[in-house]
This record gives sequence, C-alpha cells and structure tokens, in this order.
Amino acid sequence: MLDVKSIRKDFPILEQDFIYLDSAASSLTPEQVVLKEMEFYRGYRANVERGVHRWSQEASEEYENAHEEAAKFIGAPSKANVAMLRNTTEGINLVANSQDWKKTDKIVTSVIEHHSNFITWLRVRQRYGTKVDVVRCDTEGIFELADWEKAIDDDTTLVAVTHVSNVLGCIMPIKEIIEIAHEHGAKVLVDGAQGVPHIETDVMKLGVDFLAFSGHKMLGPTGSGGLYIAEHEIPTTEPLCIGGGTIADVSIDDYVLAVPPMKYEAGTPAIAQVIGLGEACRYLTKAGMKNIEEWDLKLANRLLDGLSEIPGVEIYGPKDPKQRVGLATFNIEDMNPHDVALTLDMEYDVATRSGHHCALPLMKELYQLNQGNVRASTYLYNTVEEIDHLISAVEEIAKS
Ligand SMILES: Cc1ncc(COP(=O)(O)O)c(C=O)c1O
Repeated sequence: MLDVKSIRKDFPILEQDFIYLDSAASSLTPEQVVLKEMEFYRGYRANVERGVHRWSQEASEEYENAHEEAAKFIGAPSKANVAMLRNTTEGINLVANSQDWKKTDKIVTSVIEHHSNFITWLRVRQRYGTKVDVVRCDTEGIFELADWEKAIDDDTTLVAVTHVSNVLGCIMPIKEIIEIAHEHGAKVLVDGAQGVPHIETDVMKLGVDFLAFSGHKMLGPTGSGGLYIAEHEIPTTEPLCIGGGTIADVSIDDYVLAVPPMKYEAGTPAIAQVIGLGEACRYLTKAGMKNIEEWDLKLANRLLDGLSEIPGVEIYGPKDPKQRVGLATFNIEDMNPHDVALTLDMEYDVATRSGHHCALPLMKELYQLNQGNVRASTYLYNTVEEIDHLISAVEEIAKS
C-alpha cells in the first residue's frame, strides 16, 4: 500500500494551498529528482562523453546510469534500447521519420490518439501516399478487438496506439493488439505517455517494437523522455537528427554511426534532465508500480462515484474504474469547460485542465464537443480528500 502521507513530504510544492489535478499534462517533481539535478549543476556540471577530466567523467557516468535506470523501469534488456529524447512526441516523430515508407504500406491507429500519435501519421500519408486506417470505439472509449482484427491486415506495416487515453483515461488492450499486429508481420508503436507513469510496463512481456514515453509525466524533469526500440528494429531505425555524439567514425566522404543509444542522441543532450529522469525511475520503483496502480484505482473510483452523482455533470470514458487510470473528463451542462476550470482555480484552488486535450479527432467524432471538456488527473501524491474537495466544488458550480 502506498504511504501517500510520506510521499507528499517529498513534494514541498504541495505545502501551498492548492490542489494539483493536472498530472496528465505534467506531473510534479519530488525533492529527490530536484536534488539530483542540482547535484549535477553544483557538483560536476560538464558535457558528457567527450572529456577526460573528472567532471566530464562523472557526468557521463551519471548520464549512462540514468539510461540503465530507465531501461530497467520499462523492462528493456539494456540501455542500448532506450534513446533519451525530449518527450513522447519526439519519440513518435523519430519512428515516423526513420522508416522507409511506401505507398503500399498501411498504418493503423485509433480515434482516441493524442495529436502527437495522430498527425504524425497523417503527415506520412501526405508525404508518401501511405494508407492510414483509424479504428473507432464506442462513446465510453471501449474498443472491440474484432475492429482491430478487421483493420490490421498483411499490408499493415505499423500499428500506432496509445496505452492509456489522456481524455477518457481508458486502458487499451495493447497486449492483444500487439499480438494481432505481429500475426500480420506489422510493427507496433505504443504511445506510453499516460501508460508508463501509471501502469507497470514491461516491453519484453508486451513484445512491443517501439514505446515512447515522457519523463515529465512520471516525476521527471521537463524536457526528458525516451523511446524504447526493440533490438530487431535498431538496424533499420534511423536517427531523427545526426551530428556530434552520434558517430563512430567520419571521413571526408563518409561516416559511420555510433552504437545505440548514442546514435539517436545528436548534439549535447539534456544532461541534467536525463539524470533527473533516472532518479524519477528510482523513486517510482521504490514506491512500487503495483502500489501506484492500486492507489490510482482508489482515486478513479472516488472521482467517478462523486462526479456521477452530481446532476448536470456528464462524464466521458468507461464507467468501470477498473478500465481506467485516475483521470476523468467531464462537462457541466451548458457551461464552457474553460469557465469551469477557471472557477475551480480562482474560487476553489484546484488545478484542472480544459479544452480538447490535443485529441480533436476524439472530441469531434465521439462527442461533437467544440470546446472540449474539463480534465481532473491524479497521481501518487493525490489524496481522497483532494478528490472530495473537487467533487464538492463541481457540485457547487453545477448548482450556481
Ligand atoms: C497520450 C499522450 N500522448 C502523447 C502526449 C505528448 O506528450 P509530450 O508532450 O510529453 O510529448 C501526451 C501529452 O499529454 C499524451 O497524453
């Protein structure tokens, strides 16, 4: 069981009179991660990989250790399989730009994807004429596996799917989707932006080919994230950028790329952020991902129970809390979601997010929502009391 009281002590920002329910956009950062970053700036601030002096050696060692921590955290066999990038978006773009797309290829994705895992594929279609097929779900965000079976065929090259929706909070059956894709020889890219922070993720057990994730949504610094690339994909996955740091050799006429992950990390990387992300992985591992899942379910239960009892409130996504993480989006009758979020901030000291949450296809196809909705998203430091405060605030706003 998660000791939330003691976890909250690691987040001094929570001493402010403010309830943070916007972790799906970006999580808070514990003191351990802040200190680890500071340790770099105060103790050994130097560039990595290219220096013999002691600070550069220490920076390089910490930077590499962070790769190891991140690899361990997602069950990757080695640090060579995890490129440290800025965020999920960069990881997805790396995959989209690294493949030799043809007109005859087909990409299968879903209607609930974040724009980062959607417009990337529309751009591949624009550039190469590649076919893009979009699998739909019902209004609760529940997908039929039969629809994935129908969409994925022998022409399918890539299936790009999120693990968890950032709008509906629903958990996708990615293991089954990966199995269907592999039966047809298609690769799978999982958008782990919302999944990795909340659900124990093991890339080897899943058998996924690519997994993109954001460090800043899992207690790490902003500007940190990663892309897992399965061993068999490394030879055919080109870096997004090349230059300093990515080469083994260069001559007047040619160059040889370095071994991974270096070949994917061009230029001076976000050293402090990557080191911070390694510490965030350590923190989450210590807290226990199974404990986090359990706490998430408790908060999801309370969120759904409380919001669904308020007259005039519509909730989006699965009704069963077991099918989602601790995140709920809602609207209050005819109220503009931005006004609701602003009132929650100004009058009730609660941070939520309003709008389309970078998921316009979902908003348009499933709900015809022009203004989007309000999202309350939790993490391991949130309490049931905080959820109760949100619920009574929404109740009062709905009555007014
Ligand atoms: C499901 C999902 N995918 C991708 C992203 C993009 O993440 P980032 O902004 O860290 O690249 C987000 C961010 O909210 C997300 O929720």
